[in-house]
Order: sequence, then C-alpha cells, then structure tokens
Amino acid sequence: MTGSRESIVDAARRAARQAHAPYSGIHVGAALVAASGAVYRGNNVENAAYPLGNCAETSAIAVGVQAEGVAFRIAEIAVWATDRDGAVIAASPCGGCRQRIRELASGDSTAIHFPWQAGEIRTVTIAELLPFAFSLPSSQPSR
Ligand code: THU
Repeated sequence: MTGSRESIVDAARRAARQAHAPYSGIHVGAALVAASGAVYRGNNVENAAYPLGNCAETSAIAVGVQAEGVAFRIAEIAVWATDRDGAVIAASPCGGCRQRIRELASGDSTAIHFPWQAGEIRTVTIAELLPFAFSLPSSQPSR
C-alpha cells in the first residue's frame, strides 16, 4: 500500500529535523512506507569518528526491521536534506543506501522520492537508481 507522495515526502522533511549532524551540517531525513502500510522514519546520525556515521535511509530501514522482522519490505521511500542554513539540497540516496534499499525493496518498481535540482522532487525506481545490483548466488535467477 502506498500513500500520497506529498505525505511521505513531508514525513521525510520532519525526520530531517531530528538529525544529529554537527560535523557536516547536512540534516537528512528518510521516511518509508512498508509493504504493511506502516510508515517508518530515520535520520542521519554522525559521529566524531566520521566513518561511523549512519545515513538517514539506513536508520529508517533499521526501524522498519525492528518493528516487522523478516516480513519487512519497502513499498516506497522518500529522502529530504537541508544544509547548514536550512535550505533544501539535492539528496538522492548514496550508493551504499541504494544497495540497502534494494535488499528490502518490494520489487524493481519500488519508488524513491528525493529533492533534486531547484528543489524539484524526483521520483525514480530502485531499478533505475541501482541497475545490476549485487546479490548472492542463492537469490539469483538460475542460469
Ligand atoms: N547522508 C545520508 O543520510 N544519506 C545519504 O544517502 C547520503 C548522505 C548523510 C551522511 C552524512 O551525515 C551527511 O549526509 C553528509 O554526508
């Protein structure tokens, strides 16, 4: 089940306000609609040991898995990001988060919404964002 694009983008915008981003100043929020219809949110959590920081998408996925366990799947996901001045910035998911979304997406057409140039909201599928995704042999089609 999916809601309106506006409502899930707004949930990502609200999640970004919770960011712990004292180093980059980039506040990122993610909100996803699970296949169950439930909405889960997350934000980036930075650390003084920089590589230990978590992306917002990763945080939202962790919340969903905690709530639903192995049944958890992503029907759609929105990302939002602002800079130090609070201005919206382009925020397509990073490469690592694309792989994480792919792993738990409902299918190839799982939608991802994010601000792009001039604050325009783009909607693309996970298959468009991460073509030729890595998967283990056990999940690959037989040859
Ligand atoms: N960040 C995310 O939360 N999601 C992404 O997809 C890319 C980057 C965060 C990580 C870091 O806290 C800040 O944005 C600047 O890189």
